[in-house]
Amino acid sequence: MCEGDCKGAAKGRPNMKPVYPKAGSYPDFAKLVDRENAQVDRRVFTDEQVYQAELRQIFARSWLFLAHESQIPNPGDFVRTSMGEDDVIVVRQRDGSVNAFLNSCPHRGNRVCMVDAGKKARGFICNYHGWSFGIDGALRGTDGKVYEKDETFEKAQIGLTPVAQVDSYKGLIFGTFDPDAVSLLEFFGDFTYYLDIMLDNDEGGTEFIGGAIKSEIDCNWKFPAENFVGDILHAFWTHQSGAQAILGGGVDLGKRYDELAFQASIYGHGIETNLDKVGNTRTLGYPDLVDYAFELSEKAKDRLGELRARAIGAVSSCTVFPNFSFLPGQNTFRVWHPRGPGKIELVVWTLVNKNAPDHIKEQYRKGVMMTFSPGGVFEMDDGENWEYSTRVNQGFVTRQQPLHYALGIESADMERDLPGHIHKGSLNDANQRLFYTRWAEFMEHDNWTDLQNGATAAPKKTATAAE
Ligand code: FES
Ligand SMILES: [Fe+2]
Repeated sequence: MCEGDCKGAAKGRPNMKPVYPKAGSYPDFAKLVDRENAQVDRRVFTDEQVYQAELRQIFARSWLFLAHESQIPNPGDFVRTSMGEDDVIVVRQRDGSVNAFLNSCPHRGNRVCMVDAGKKARGFICNYHGWSFGIDGALRGTDGKVYEKDETFEKAQIGLTPVAQVDSYKGLIFGTFDPDAVSLLEFFGDFTYYLDIMLDNDEGGTEFIGGAIKSEIDCNWKFPAENFVGDILHAFWTHQSGAQAILGGGVDLGKRYDELAFQASIYGHGIETNLDKVGNTRTLGYPDLVDYAFELSEKAKDRLGELRARAIGAVSSCTVFPNFSFLPGQNTFRVWHPRGPGKIELVVWTLVNKNAPDHIKEQYRKGVMMTFSPGGVFEMDDGENWEYSTRVNQGFVTRQQPLHYALGIESADMERDLPGHIHKGSLNDANQRLFYTRWAEFMEHDNWTDLQNGATAAPKKTATAAE
């Protein structure tokens, strides 16, 4: 309420303009990542103050994944999701564009949308006192009794708070709360070169199928994000029994596995991949899918060039900073929504090429459920590890001990002409080091000029000259 100096608001009237938080600078938290010695302080996983700084510095500024275009094809179609801990509605507009709004009534803050998704909505009505909003977020009406008679009530000034910027890349919709954030393409940098292995390997584009699977894991959001950014190392140990159940043998990628493999990172986004094995696809357990991936790989050579075509379906994992991850070939896409320093809400979708045959789409859907859902053989393996890593790091003496992130510290590949920071082999902590370097950049910097010109920016060389 405006008391005393009421700048920006008519005297005695509320100023209902959106408020977008300003970033600060937390150099002490940035120092928790020791780049020189490749160590990370355990407090980044457990400390409440660090977590609150993450919400301000990272989740209120980064471009965050919101939805796939295919989930909301028509005007009024919507999904409910989160940006950090903020509840958000993503809705297709009448002109075909996509907007996103805080799912919170400007009256007393109640949710205005209670369901996860819907089709052709004409608007959203708040349960509490009956304010109603259009799909453009504007206040349309009240309960019809009191406010209409109140001459001071300025309906046009009131609406759902819009997400400051919304944009999409090849079917994936992202949003940021920061009006000053660089464009989505600048936020990705040349990492789009790697995203296209999944998003642009076939004409016709991609779609999400079969709804979403939700679960909660008692872990810090960075453990799964760093796992997908470049931790194939754990698969040979953690996932042995799951792999035996599905493949009839352990995880064995052959002697030449790491010769062809590499890690790539730009602005903390990272992918690790090998070539030629169609390994991820095999773990879904359907021989038809392996044939499909090999065919796709052959066909995509014209579209993506030799190297990226060979990565289709390979053993590979990827995180788009900060909390959006996927497994090429297994086709599971997921967001690790933070829910405090020690908890996440995980939402998982299955992505397929729109032009894939129906039985292939169905096998991908079932394969993802069998492997990467709460009851899936691989998801269960991972969740337990991340929970213990989070819980044990809270110990008073335990949290004084640094963690080791030094595998492959001298493995930078200066010869391979690929975009970004390239490291040889994928059994390597390189992408994880760069993920935490990016984390520290967000902690330290209060402006995008510094954020885009730090150590995680791609080294200057010709992008996409690899083919
Ligand atoms: S809280 Fe929404 S109408 Fe009152
Ligand atoms: Fe795993």
